[in-house]
Amino acid sequence: MLSQFQSAVCLVLWVIGAVTVAQDAYLDRAWKLMSETPLIDGHNDLPWQLRKQFNNELNKVDLNKLNTTHTNIPKIKEGRLGAQFWSAYVPCDTQYKDAVRQTLEQIDVVHRMCQKYPETFMFATSSQDIMEAFKMKKTASLIGVEGGHSIDSSLGTLRTMYQLGVRYLTLTHSCNTPWADNWLVDTGSDPSQHNGLSPFGKQVIVEMNRLGMLIDLAHVPVAVMNQVLDMSKAPVIFSHSSAYSVCPHKRNVPDDVLKRVKETKGIVMVNFYNDYVTCSQTAKLSNVADHFDHIKKVAGADIIGFGGDYDGVTRLPEGLEDVSKVPNLVAELLRRNWTDAEVKAALGDNLLRVLREVEAVRDNLTSRSPDDVPIPYEELQSSCRTSYGYPDAGVVHSLSALALLLTLALQALIASAAY
Ligand SMILES: *[C@@H]1O[C@H](CO)[C@@H](O)[C@H](O)[C@H]1NC(C)=O
Ligand SMILES: *[C@@H]1O[C@H](CO)[C@@H](O)[C@H](O)[C@H]1NC(C)=O
Ligand SMILES: [Zn+2]
Repeated sequence: MLSQFQSAVCLVLWVIGAVTVAQDAYLDRAWKLMSETPLIDGHNDLPWQLRKQFNNELNKVDLNKLNTTHTNIPKIKEGRLGAQFWSAYVPCDTQYKDAVRQTLEQIDVVHRMCQKYPETFMFATSSQDIMEAFKMKKTASLIGVEGGHSIDSSLGTLRTMYQLGVRYLTLTHSCNTPWADNWLVDTGSDPSQHNGLSPFGKQVIVEMNRLGMLIDLAHVPVAVMNQVLDMSKAPVIFSHSSAYSVCPHKRNVPDDVLKRVKETKGIVMVNFYNDYVTCSQTAKLSNVADHFDHIKKVAGADIIGFGGDYDGVTRLPEGLEDVSKVPNLVAELLRRNWTDAEVKAALGDNLLRVLREVEAVRDNLTSRSPDDVPIPYEELQSSCRTSYGYPDAGVVHSLSALALLLTLALQALIASAAY
């Protein structure tokens, strides 16, 4: 006969065993779903780490062994990463300087990464490419440009980036552009310059619809979110933003906007950055799942996606430390009674739906000419820009030079009068 102590030990072991089995069962189911539907992540800053840590000298990097990033090839395999929008990000202080060149270099490093590791990555520009890569068990690699400053107020540059494979543009990063306000306007730390989008900013939206480029509303203020939702012919994305009701950070999406995203069949891809997840420096995987639950409650599982922001942030939740850990989050959703269909929607079906619709809108607009009306010269703030092509800009220049001269002369006159 077992002693009481022995029975207790047996019971404890049985409970531990049962819990372990149950957890494994959820993870097994997560893996199964991830083998049927690609996990598509909206935002990863590995290319920025390649610049920061190696000045884009990819030849000196082994992505199989790299251990100073959240992302490397073994972690990608373990995390079953089906498709990734790699971020072509350059900081706001490149605006009016070398933003376009630096962005081109980030686009280049993604292309080179795909060429160097063809067993792992397949460069992708369409919904069809994503599914093709998934069938070949490769990570479909798309590009998103993070911040309107990267196009230097030029529709020609926007179009050229599309030609290079760029499939989303985040309208702003953390600075206003000559045509759009950024999210810091909502915190009060940046002034509003355009009440959202300027008329040229609206031209950018129309042109993105025509091109078939996803419009990314991460990093924009609520005014811009609503203006774009009013006018875009195609659904929008938030490539890496979480729910404002769960953590009231201005980078997150308020409930009324979540509902508009639902009406317009767009997607909000949840960011894992601790500061956006809990509004504090620490977070757990379950806190991220709370954002998923909240968005599902407010707007349904059909607008949710994953937008981890790996290698773009410094603090990540316990249990989601790098890209290998994402299946644990999928398992957590299953543990919270998400259905298989809901989980698959969040994994990839939603993003695929949005991308297909953006492609369909493009295909319906092929008869429309590219917009070649440039931004008005006086709306540019770049002292580095020449004015070639703007017939009146020379006059504006000489007039402002004349005005400056008169001001100086007047000041000199006042100064001399004072003595
Ligand atoms: C990281 O990689 C470097 C270079 O391959 C190696 O020297 C180092 O020991 C590694 N560090 C850890 C913590 O694995
Ligand atoms: C999941 O569903 C089961 C069975 O209906 C229920 O007992 C459990 O409380 C639910 N769990 C959650 C987290 O909602
Ligand atoms: Zn960002």
